[in-house]
Amino acid sequence: MSFDSSVRTGSTARETAVLAGVYLDGEGQSQSPLDELAGLAEAAGISEAGRIIQRRRKPESATYIGSGKLDELNELVHAADADLVIFDNNLAPGQTKNLEESLKVKVIDRTELILDIFASRARTSEARLAVELAQLEYSLPRLKRMWSHLERQGVGGVGLRGPGEKQLEVDRRLAQKRILDLKAELAQIHRRRQREVAARKTSRTLSLVGYTNAGKSTLINKLTDSDVFVKDQLFATLDTRTRRWSLPGWGPVLISDTVGFIRDLPHHLVASFRATLEEANQADLLLHVADASSSEIHEQIAAVCEVLTDLGIREKDTILVLNKIDALAPHSALLTPLLEKYPNAVPISAKSGAGLEQLTAAVSEALSKEFFDLTITIPIGNGRLEAFLAREGEVLSKQYNETSAVIHCRIPQHVSGQLRREKEMLPEIHIEGLPEEKTDGWN
Ligand code: GTP
Repeated sequence: MSFDSSVRTGSTARETAVLAGVYLDGEGQSQSPLDELAGLAEAAGISEAGRIIQRRRKPESATYIGSGKLDELNELVHAADADLVIFDNNLAPGQTKNLEESLKVKVIDRTELILDIFASRARTSEARLAVELAQLEYSLPRLKRMWSHLERQGVGGVGLRGPGEKQLEVDRRLAQKRILDLKAELAQIHRRRQREVAARKTSRTLSLVGYTNAGKSTLINKLTDSDVFVKDQLFATLDTRTRRWSLPGWGPVLISDTVGFIRDLPHHLVASFRATLEEANQADLLLHVADASSSEIHEQIAAVCEVLTDLGIREKDTILVLNKIDALAPHSALLTPLLEKYPNAVPISAKSGAGLEQLTAAVSEALSKEFFDLTITIPIGNGRLEAFLAREGEVLSKQYNETSAVIHCRIPQHVSGQLRREKEMLPEIHIEGLPEEKTDGWN
């Protein structure tokens, strides 16, 4: 018997839902805090049947929402004949149970909705495994609720009598075993991915990160002339795609798109996507793409930084890219405060191409920080070392005399260790401009 982790999350398509949000003092200050949830619901194929918002000092422990608002919600649900209620909050299993008992319709929270979208978007086997793990970890503490529902609905009889505890225990053990297997499988994929990404380290690598729908896929398409899937939909991209970008005046670099981030991304979901985000982890430079036309841009930038920290992606050079400035055009004055707040950001429109030259220059400059120029004198006949320099760096000039070749080249920092080793093995090699050995793990 296999454990069905999609028992609740896979069945929400084409339903109608009332959206509910409880915001604690200081939270959800935007003018329409439920807009993002509405976008998520739409991405899951659910139609909106109404909205209800409550501001409180702290959540009501049994139902999250206060009792007066719960009555109002009940009326709205039944007047609109809604199939379910979606909370913009993360609910504890007991709260969901109490709400369902009171409202008599299915209640899901923000995490469950995101998991539902992820489940329908996962294309590669790696993304499917990550989503399955996240769903199971979400479902495990809620198993009891599923069984007690069956009992209450009078689904009993042979095999289910007395009560479903035995079955619950079986399901719980199956789920726990599957979680362990999935974690082991994903850890193996992660290790393989780490090796694969590290093997590509002879090229400079950039990784696009950003809030969902910020325009990462559109930007990668524009820069690399490719056709990564673009859709005005949250989480259109779940898998990492890597493309070669001929960076003008520089040469080929690798650029990767990553899964979109979102605020309050469940921690176990972030953890399951660790392998998928390995490109970002090992990238030389991050391009953080933000939607300048969103009224939530500051919260979105903060949410992305939080997820990066959660992932343990070490501090690295990052260029903040303020995308969609074309959508700001009628109100271009709106860009000024953004640039005041983020003075090093590069404003662009991935759609129209505006600002891409400035972005290219900023990327070149950031990557150049990691390069150095040197002059290396190699005895004639050492073709292997000449080929190494041509492959790893940029040969600026080459002169031959009777006994040696004098090569002036630009070399990435990470190959300096290899050059030092070459010199140790062959003292006739003479190198000018090789920086002091670093001890921070570069080599
Ligand atoms: P996820 O896959 O959810 O992470 O999204 P993403 O960041 O890859 O965004 P994507 O490139 O799919 O774009 C999302 C929507 O924004 C699409 O409808 C794009 O056409 C639109 N978009 C992207 N760049 C721009 C831009 O510069 N201007 C405008 N007006 N729209 C843009």
